[in-house]
Amino acid sequence: MTTTVLVTGATGGIGGHLLTALAGRDVTVRALVRDPDRLAGAGGVEVVRGDLRDPDAVAAALDGVDAAFLNSPSAPDAATTQIAVADAAATAGVSRLVLLSQFAARADSPVRFLRWHATVEQHVHDLGIGHVVLRPNLFLQGLLAFAPLVAATGRFGAPIGDAAVSAVDVRDIADAATAVLTGAGPDGAVHDLTGPRAVTHAGIAAALTRATGHPVTFDDLTPEAFAAALDGVLPPWQAAGLVEDYAHYGRGEAARVDDAVAVLTGHPARTLEEFARDHAAAFAPAG
Ligand SMILES: NC(=O)c1ccc[n+]([C@@H]2O[C@H](COP(=O)([O-])OP(=O)(O)OC[C@H]3O[C@@H](n4cnc5c(N)ncnc54)[C@H](OP(=O)(O)O)[C@@H]3O)[C@@H](O)[C@H]2O)c1
Repeated sequence: MTTTVLVTGATGGIGGHLLTALAGRDVTVRALVRDPDRLAGAGGVEVVRGDLRDPDAVAAALDGVDAAFLNSPSAPDAATTQIAVADAAATAGVSRLVLLSQFAARADSPVRFLRWHATVEQHVHDLGIGHVVLRPNLFLQGLLAFAPLVAATGRFGAPIGDAAVSAVDVRDIADAATAVLTGAGPDGAVHDLTGPRAVTHAGIAAALTRATGHPVTFDDLTPEAFAAALDGVLPPWQAAGLVEDYAHYGRGEAARVDDAVAVLTGHPARTLEEFARDHAAAFAPAG
């Protein structure tokens, strides 16, 4: 019998790569999306229209599913939303729920995103459903948020000093998710997904300089200056959360390198240099 895998967040940074990676496996792939037009190019995917906050849509999407990938964006109600989806997965008889969490998720973390993820992790653990937790570190693709600024000014800034982070490429997160969705690793496992080494933001600037052929400079900002730069760009809760995230990185709490990507996927984790090369056009000056 062919396994049916449900992907949530299918139009997102991880989801797009995950659909591609799963297409090469002997599974039926289903995606729950708010706007099916956004998946128009994804052949071979059963598309179910629905919102993760809609219990009926979630139940319909989970019908007959063997394994599900649960990913939704950071939001003040993210834990509530994800807990309701996890409960529905248990009711639907899903045998493996793969939860996208975050590196260093902890109930007592000063970082709100890490507390939210820890709440969901604990709930899924207590639910008794077969599950695997993926805890990726800072996404390298998250740096694309700086790309327009880098392309326009050759500079970007954040409050991190010279602390290093073992940032991970979302393509490796998708590959690791593919492995565990199709059976790799034991139930209950928690995998820290990191890049192959920890990198500083000055190192990121140097990699972007080499990849684009244009000088890129990193500015170490105060948390106040960073918050001011985000004012009006992000909702206040998200800007405050990002400041907390960067304080956590700045304390060196996200520098550890883990071999889970290589162990789960069979290939080495992608490097900063590969990311910079593959996304150079986004960081290069126009024209
Ligand atoms: N960024 C980082 O460095 C980092 C590091 C570690 C962990 N994380 C975690 O990664 C997770 C994903 O974050 P992200 O911002 O990168 O998101 P993302 O995976 O790029 O995108 C979120 C996806 O969720 C979908 N979505 C949003 N609201 C939805 C809803 N109500 N119902 C159904 N689908 C919905 C979006 O679809 P549409 O908008 O197309 O409908 C999109 O496909 C978060 O939990 C975050 O904490 C992030």
